[in-house]
Amino acid sequence: MESSLRSRKSPSGSSAPSNKSDASRLAPSTSTDDDDDQIVYGISFVDMLRVLSGIVVLSCLLSWFITDGESFTWGYRPHITRWRTIKGLFQPTLHLTESELALYNGKDETKPVYVAVNGSVFDVSANRLTYGPLGGYHFFAGRDAARAFVTGCFQTDLTWDLRGLEEKYITDKEREMDDKDAAEINELERTHGHLLSLEIDDMDSVIFKAQSRLRYLKNRRLRRRQEAWESVKDTIDHWDSFFRYHKKYFYVGTVDHDYASLVGKPVPELCGGKSKPS
Ligand code: HEM
Repeated sequence: MESSLRSRKSPSGSSAPSNKSDASRLAPSTSTDDDDDQIVYGISFVDMLRVLSGIVVLSCLLSWFITDGESFTWGYRPHITRWRTIKGLFQPTLHLTESELALYNGKDETKPVYVAVNGSVFDVSANRLTYGPLGGYHFFAGRDAARAFVTGCFQTDLTWDLRGLEEKYITDKEREMDDKDAAEINELERTHGHLLSLEIDDMDSVIFKAQSRLRYLKNRRLRRRQEAWESVKDTIDHWDSFFRYHKKYFYVGTVDHDYASLVGKPVPELCGGKSKPS
């Protein structure tokens, strides 16, 4: 699309040379020495704005027709533009204890229904059918059952205690190598006993070599578990995002857990993996 700009030369002619050279790069200009009116062909900034707004308006209309009047933006709606999210910015976040959270289990219809994942609490009242007393996922309401979100064991794992879950992500092949490493560590500790804690500088000595091997094996087992732990974190993050960015649910705050209470408690066993509630 082209338009013409009509500009008048200043009497002194001071601004003319630069304008003229710019214009001549875009399109032919018509001017005579006698004529102080200059016609410049080109695309102005305003023209570009007009075209862009036209495209946006057309796209909105097309989206409106194609989505049957549901969306001007092809169904895309950034989370921050949702009313609940904006409202949430101006509301204080809740900090609940576990027993306070339990009150929001959907049994009291006057209260919202909350679900928690690894310390973050979400309002899922929009789906009482699923989380209410008769819903298939009622067991998640009013508590933080992060462990069950990872394992799918809805009978045994309704707890926030995630300890030991990395074992779930150690593959059979890794497990085989891990068992071998564990056996070798035991053997080294059995045969060399207290000598392993001595400070030895002689790289050729049997004790030094045993110490190095032991350190290597232990680090290898640790690394395996650290990598497996990333998968636990990914699964928790998945469910956190599911609730946080869900169209109808929203984040309300946090629930406090007594992590100190886990000290000395045995690490929970990995469950058998029954994944769907009966
Ligand atoms: C780790 C395993 C699993 C977890 C953590 C899980 C979790 C969930 C959650 C939180 C919901 C509610 C989603 C919402 O708020 O809209 C849901 C819905 C659903 N899940 Fe699962 N699920 C798991 C495995 C399964 C399996 C194995 C099946 C099928 C055999 C299944 C079938 C369903 C169905 C049919 C619904 C929708 C029903 C409803 O809204 O009540 N899920 N799941």
